[in-house]
Amino acid sequence: MKTIDKKITLMNGTKIPCIGFGTWQTPDGTVATKAVKTAIQSGYRHIDTAAIYGNEKSVGEGISQSGIAREELFVTSKVWNANRSYDKTMVAFDQSLKDLKLDYLDLYLIHWPASANQFENWKEINLDTWRALEQLYKDDRVKAIGVSNFNSLHLNALMTKAEFMPVINQIEIHPGYPQKELVHYCQNRNIKVEAWSPLGSGRVLQDPILASIAKKYNKSVAQLCIRWCIQRDLIPLPKSVTPDRIESNRQIFDFIIDEYDMKTITELPPLGFSGLDPEQIKF
Ligand code: A2P
Repeated sequence: MKTIDKKITLMNGTKIPCIGFGTWQTPDGTVATKAVKTAIQSGYRHIDTAAIYGNEKSVGEGISQSGIAREELFVTSKVWNANRSYDKTMVAFDQSLKDLKLDYLDLYLIHWPASANQFENWKEINLDTWRALEQLYKDDRVKAIGVSNFNSLHLNALMTKAEFMPVINQIEIHPGYPQKELVHYCQNRNIKVEAWSPLGSGRVLQDPILASIAKKYNKSVAQLCIRWCIQRDLIPLPKSVTPDRIESNRQIFDFIIDEYDMKTITELPPLGFSGLDPEQIKF
C-alpha cells in the first residue's frame, strides 16, 4: 500500500512527495509556523507556499523548527503576478528564498499566467517570466520549474518556445470541479498536475452525495476528496491549521475508492468553484 512517503518522478527526474501541505489562506505568524511544524512532524514532506500568501517567513520558521533535514523536504513557492518578467522574477525568487530561510527551492511556479483578456502580449510576458525560471533551474537554485493556473492555450504558447518544459501545472481541482480536459491535456504530455483547494476550500465538505460515499468507506469527506485526487494521479495540496485534520488528511492510504464511486465523484454537478478563472482574473 502506498503511503505519504511515496514519491512521483517528474519529467526532469526530480521526485515529489505524492501529497503536499497547502498554506494558502493560512494566517502569517504563529498559526502558519505551528501548522507547518505540525504537518512535517506528522509525516508530510512536501510544503506548498507562495509569495502572495504573505506567510513565507512563518512557513520557513515552521520548516526550521520541524527539525527535519532540508534534503528530506520538498518546498514549492510561486512568483506573483506583479513580478512577471525576467528581472523582477529573479528578484522575487531571491526574496522568497530569504523569507523561507532556504538556499534552494524544490519547485518554483509562475503563479498565474498573463492572459489575453488583460494583455495583448501575454505570450511574451509568460515567456519572459519563464526564461527567469529556466535560468534559476540551470543555476541549480531550483530543482524543478512549472506553472500554476495555466490552461491549455497558455501551456501551448509557452511550450512552443520553452527550452525546458514545465513539469507541473498546479490548478484548482476538487469534486464538483474536476478539470477533466485540462488534466487529460497535461497528463498526455507528462506534465504532473497538482490540485489546489482539493476540499474546495471547505466548500464541498457538506455535499450529501460525497457524505454518503465517504460513510461507505468509513472515511471523512475530506479524506475522500484527497483520495480521489491520488487515484486520478493528481498531487493534492490540502490545507489545514488544525492538528487533528492535518493528521487525518494524510490517512488516506488504507482504502480504495471503487471505479463506480470514482466516476460518481468525478461526474458530480458543479460545486465549490472559487470563481478564479485564469482568463477572467483582474489581478
Ligand atoms: P482549517 O484550516 O481551519 O482546519 P482546501 O485544502 O481545499 O483549501 O481546504 C481548506 C479548508 O478546509 C480550510 O478551511 C480547512 O480548515 C478545512 N479543512 C481541512 N481539512 C479538513 C478536514 N479534515 N475536515 C474539515 N475541514 C477541513
